[in-house]
Amino acid sequence: MCGIFGYIGSREQAASLVLEGLKQLEYRGYDSWGVAVAPSAGKTISLKKKTGKIGDGSVQDLPAGTLAFGHTRWATHGGVTEANAHPLLDCSGQVAVIHNGIFENYETFKNELLSQGHTFSSETDTEVIVHLIEEYLKKLPFFEAVRNTFLDLEGLNAFVAINIRERVLVAVRRGSPLVLGFGVGENYLASDPAALLPHTKDVYFLEDQEMAVVTDTEIKIFDSLTAQEKKATKQHLTWDVSQTEKGEYAHYMLKEIHEQPQIVATIAVNATRRTQEVADYLQQFEDIYLIGCGSASYASQVGYYLFSKIAHRQVNCSVGSEFSYNLEAVTSKTLLLALSQSGETMDLLEPLKMAKTKGAKILALVNVLGSSLYRLADEKVLLTAGPERAVASTKAFTAKLAHLILLAFAAADELEAGKALLTQAAESASSVLLPTSLNHIQGLATRLKDTQHIYCLGRGISFPLSLETALKIKEISYIHAEGLAMGELKHGTLALIEKGVPCLAFLPNDETYAASLAGVMEVKARGGYVVGVSFKPHAIFDYYIEVLDVKEATIIPNVIVAQLLAYYLTLERKLDPDMPRNLAKSVTVK
Ligand code: AGP
Repeated sequence: MCGIFGYIGSREQAASLVLEGLKQLEYRGYDSWGVAVAPSAGKTISLKKKTGKIGDGSVQDLPAGTLAFGHTRWATHGGVTEANAHPLLDCSGQVAVIHNGIFENYETFKNELLSQGHTFSSETDTEVIVHLIEEYLKKLPFFEAVRNTFLDLEGLNAFVAINIRERVLVAVRRGSPLVLGFGVGENYLASDPAALLPHTKDVYFLEDQEMAVVTDTEIKIFDSLTAQEKKATKQHLTWDVSQTEKGEYAHYMLKEIHEQPQIVATIAVNATRRTQEVADYLQQFEDIYLIGCGSASYASQVGYYLFSKIAHRQVNCSVGSEFSYNLEAVTSKTLLLALSQSGETMDLLEPLKMAKTKGAKILALVNVLGSSLYRLADEKVLLTAGPERAVASTKAFTAKLAHLILLAFAAADELEAGKALLTQAAESASSVLLPTSLNHIQGLATRLKDTQHIYCLGRGISFPLSLETALKIKEISYIHAEGLAMGELKHGTLALIEKGVPCLAFLPNDETYAASLAGVMEVKARGGYVVGVSFKPHAIFDYYIEVLDVKEATIIPNVIVAQLLAYYLTLERKLDPDMPRNLAKSVTVK
């Protein structure tokens, strides 16, 4: 879940260029960072490592050089220290490695290397990689030393190595993502294509078991098992670098929240014959599972309600990290509709690969072109939400809902009705983003900023909405929040409701309204502080937030209210909404 960036070319300030690349990748892990450069006039590799976020950190104090790489870390093995930050050096200081993933069998090799006299400066699994390369270099050329080391590794990994004696970056991949960027007289590599956009749009997504040898003038791809060279088919990225910048917004999360009405409206406009084709493809399958992790798992649950309500089609939904434990029923008649922003979530990719071995087909709703999920899937729908940088997912979540709404309507042969409803949802979403509405939601955040607990309540399609609301509040404001089916309140959790306990209830104008009203009255009767998000006010609400009703698509403006409340609570608590503690944007380890 770390960020990797590398450069080789003619620019002497390679270290600074790499640091700028790392800033683009910091959402992947931000507990420490480091940059290494092969000095143009040096005998050993120079490096700088720091704990914490990059912020206004600099590498001006590193020597000039035209070959450099760097890393932002999300700790797995070893605490958050400068010693454990990457890059890591071998005993000679002439070979360096950066790594993303987990080297599961590292201890066996570490003990052997220690007995062969190697000295270790960190607690990481990664450092074993660079000492292994050092050991192989005693009898093999650099490429072969890296290849043999890679073949020794168990687990899902990607790493890059440089050697002061050779002008080359050697990269390997099994599981964790790595993308190569083609320049003119210079080349790049990164964990995520978006970080390459300031330099190139021509990329190659390294496949599992592949190695890349990157020099100033070329990028060669090899099969790590046979050392045979392979053809590298370039892909051209469609995103624009401006999409990866904050612009006038204070945070990426706020920018991405404000992009949602346009994204939803565009998805509606672009819904053509292809959408109908995907719906028809989906309808061929006997069993359909909607699967995702975190926010994507809640979008899957929304899909469960949409297909039943609109297409009268029963589908299953599962949490990615649990799906490995219920593959028994999966057959060649099963479709797995996999939802993911990054397309690199290991807890999702692993069960999908297992299900594929049982003949299941995969339809991906994914945001990143060329990602592992995009390449694994039999059918693919790009979310078209643009690059999402804030760790808390917002626009990718509503884009998933927009595509699910269209697929459900298309499955009911009502695509035009679905497009019309989404267009209305985009308008309703715009009204939630009007200054008066923003101030009103900010006012609620000011009231709730010191609370210990918030309960998020909904019935029907608003149940998974309440789960997503609680996740948004928890992951960035660090307030404990619980999302639950409102009907379940009286079966236990109501015991926690006492004077002033805030309960955020979603009451859209659908078949759940009356029962939901009864639910908030039970809360009120125990002294709870009721925040009503609804199409009309009610005396029972202590705080009312109006959302224009757009039938099944009301969940889109409703979740934007939830995102804004979480964002403003985070600001009130003086926290960073874009990079919350202990988390990362793309979870590439199991
Ligand atoms: C959501 O705000 C979180 N960042 C997280 O739960 C996320 O949804 C989950 O890790 C899945 O990520 P994906 O959509 O990239 O697969």
